[in-house]
Amino acid sequence: MMAETRNADEIFKEFKEHSIAEFFKKNRQMLGYSGMVRSLVTVVHEYVTNSLDACEEAGILPNVEVTVTEIGENKYKVKVIDNGPGVPKKFVGKALAPVLAGTKFHRYVPQRGQEGIGAAGGTMFSQITTGKPIVVKSSTGKGTTYSCNIAIDTMKNIPIVTNLVELKEDFKGLSVEGEFADVKYENSDHGVYEYLKRTALSNPHCEIKFIDPTGKEHVFIRAVTEMPEKSKPTQPHPLGLAINDLLEFAHASQSRKISSFFVETFARTTSNKVNEMKEIATSIDFEKNPKEMTWADAEEIIKAIRAIKWIAPDATSIIPIGEERIKIALKNILNPEFMHVIERKPRVFRGGIPFVIEAAVAYGGKSGYETAEGSSAAILRFANRVPLLFDAGNCAITEAVKSVEWKRYGIDMDNQPVSIFINMSSVHVPYSGVGKEAISKEDEIIEEIKLSVMEAARGVQSFIRGKQHASFEAGRYKTTMRYAKQLAKDLAELTGENQNKLEQDIEKLVTKHYPHLKKGEEAEEKDIEIVAEAEEEN
Ligand SMILES: Nc1ncnc2c1ncn2[C@@H]1O[C@H](COP(=O)(O)OP(=O)(O)OP(=O)(O)O)[C@@H](O)[C@H]1O
Ligand SMILES: [Mg+2]
Repeated sequence: MMAETRNADEIFKEFKEHSIAEFFKKNRQMLGYSGMVRSLVTVVHEYVTNSLDACEEAGILPNVEVTVTEIGENKYKVKVIDNGPGVPKKFVGKALAPVLAGTKFHRYVPQRGQEGIGAAGGTMFSQITTGKPIVVKSSTGKGTTYSCNIAIDTMKNIPIVTNLVELKEDFKGLSVEGEFADVKYENSDHGVYEYLKRTALSNPHCEIKFIDPTGKEHVFIRAVTEMPEKSKPTQPHPLGLAINDLLEFAHASQSRKISSFFVETFARTTSNKVNEMKEIATSIDFEKNPKEMTWADAEEIIKAIRAIKWIAPDATSIIPIGEERIKIALKNILNPEFMHVIERKPRVFRGGIPFVIEAAVAYGGKSGYETAEGSSAAILRFANRVPLLFDAGNCAITEAVKSVEWKRYGIDMDNQPVSIFINMSSVHVPYSGVGKEAISKEDEIIEEIKLSVMEAARGVQSFIRGKQHASFEAGRYKTTMRYAKQLAKDLAELTGENQNKLEQDIEKLVTKHYPHLKKGEEAEEKDIEIVAEAEEEN
């Protein structure tokens, strides 16, 4: 039987254009809107990172207030208020509704937001799950307060702004509020509370207030009053370029020749370097306009770039959190008995992209997770100061941490209150998925993280060993003393001697073997009592 045939004209009658917003509707999981718990965290994450970015850009110490209210089954209202620069009325629709619109494109700096998707994603998610617009209030200075509702025309990818009213109210910053369904609040290490706690950990210059669905208010107070250093945009290093990157730069360039384009656009690229490239990429005309660069040209030039020696990229544009700040933040939020923080020197992955790893191991206090049996270790992952809560299995940090032999440092990951903190800072964090929840498992990154956490672990090793030794000794002392009573009684019966005296003699003898348990170290003794009691119960 002959199959039915259709020619191109017939087939292309059905040709339709999709809007980006339509694409979101069908592929929302790509932006982190998958799973009810995660979707709620994503909403909070997008608004909070925008607030932090905006405050940082304006040089304002951020105060962010997040309220999550339950309004129905798997239905919540989320409100985020910041004290940032605000959004001018003229731009508010465009900033918060259309996908791929924002002020942060084409910046080669380590910022949180980049794509211009985040806020629009929230608007769209509200729209497709509850049919409601986002309610916005903003002001950029005295007398400019306004409020409005924002929705998206998902076919045209344009904002629909309604109810725009000027308000007399004094306010500075941005307040966004939306209603979302298909979401769930959970008090777990994947939930909103944990997300905000970790955001406070990696951003000690922020004050974060959180009102949870039970109405309880949690405040993560500002631990440092200095703004983080602002990173300067840098030129990309040639070694970090892929073919399409090079083409994009070339086609956007105002330079007249490919040779000058290289010197003007990229880091560490002198005319001597361009001459070296010319010697290898012999078929390329470096005198022609960069706008005329073809894919084949770019391919050949990239080959040449990789064949010559380069000075390592300048890593000064990377601003890590900083050792002191991490210490203050950990103390503020986890209040550990002991911690060790490491800030490593910049390293490079994929031959040209610099990154910095910071790592800390904290023991005791509120470190780790509480479990039915006691506690276990928590791995706190961050990329450019943003906490990563999901997709742990696909993350270079998890892989590196798991590959360390923790027992060597006296750390038992399953039974101790330990938090392992890792932050990767880079102008280009290679995420392993579009949801940006895990760092891709590049060998150089894994290796560097492993070295960092091992160094941090070495720092707490002697403290943990000391602690283990003390509790072990105390346990032995206590057990021996328990037998002493019985032994004195038995001996008294056998020998007819005074039981009390015998008991005292035995006690003296035992105490002689544990001289560090003598009086004067009462604080430690108290500690030990608790450990020993717990043992007794078992
Ligand atoms: N709280 C805020 N204060 C001031 N401006 C804001 C705020 N939130 C958003 N904006 C503006 O709206 C723009 C769009 O935000 P959106 O979250 O969609 O994109 P982005 O942050 O640039 O990138 P990403 O997709 O990575 O989040 C921002 O670039 C910024 O100009
Ligand atoms: Mg954003």
